[in-house]
Amino acid sequence: MTGGAAVVWLAVMGLAWYAVRMRPGEEGRRAAFLIIGGGAVVPTIVLAVLLIYGLRMMPALLAEAPEGSLRIAVTGEQWWWRVRYELPGGTPVELANEIRLPVGEPVEFLLDSPDVIHAFWIPPLGGKMDMIPGRRTRLLLEPTRVGTYRGVCAEYCGTSHALMAFPVVVMEKRDFVQWLDAQRSPAAEPRDARAAAGRDRFFANGCPACHTVVGTSARGVIGPDLTHVGSRLTIGAGTLPNDPDAFIRWIERTEDVKPGVHMPAFGMLDPTELESLASYLESLK
Ligand code: CUA
Repeated sequence: MTGGAAVVWLAVMGLAWYAVRMRPGEEGRRAAFLIIGGGAVVPTIVLAVLLIYGLRMMPALLAEAPEGSLRIAVTGEQWWWRVRYELPGGTPVELANEIRLPVGEPVEFLLDSPDVIHAFWIPPLGGKMDMIPGRRTRLLLEPTRVGTYRGVCAEYCGTSHALMAFPVVVMEKRDFVQWLDAQRSPAAEPRDARAAAGRDRFFANGCPACHTVVGTSARGVIGPDLTHVGSRLTIGAGTLPNDPDAFIRWIERTEDVKPGVHMPAFGMLDPTELESLASYLESLK
């Protein structure tokens, strides 16, 4: 593309130079030739070649994932990511706002959305793909380097479109297997009195209406699964670091952190309650 563009640019510059130096009255037939040739014939040929070249690359993007590939269903929500690892022969593992992948293996993403159009994009790993309500789109990627990358929503989807990100961690296979095993297990029991008090607050304030914590009676599906929220790199879909202060800020002033968010703020809780809640959520490793 760059090479072709450079050739076209040089030709246009040459013609401009030629036009500037041309004496008045010299145009005539040559002008008609240049307009038809340079204005219609050459662009048609150049664009046709580029189109064919581009179309030839498409089958690779739309190819079926190899048998046994990791499949991850990702749903774009307003404004966060529902992530479900669909494991062959096992129950799916659900998490939110974070994706981990084994290095050097193809992974197939199955993408959709319940209401508005989002676009799933991990720039360092490949192209973007729309998430369209009522349709399931697919994207095949193969990460080749271990590291932590930033995924984003690449289609304007509402007030907090810019606050809809997710970390993507590409890991060695054995680390990935270990991580997935941990994600599959039910939530940890609170390790101290403060976290236990936080769990009581969690249930007393109705959090389970929207959130699931596997291993407890919290079974809500409106908001992100919190079973292992303490193990994630960020909270609020890439908007805050994962630490107790961030949890408190999020719960107390949700709307300030993410304008338009569906989760109500719990500013009526006193500092002790907020601290215990944060301690509980942080303990869900
Ligand atoms: Cu989702 Cu923009």
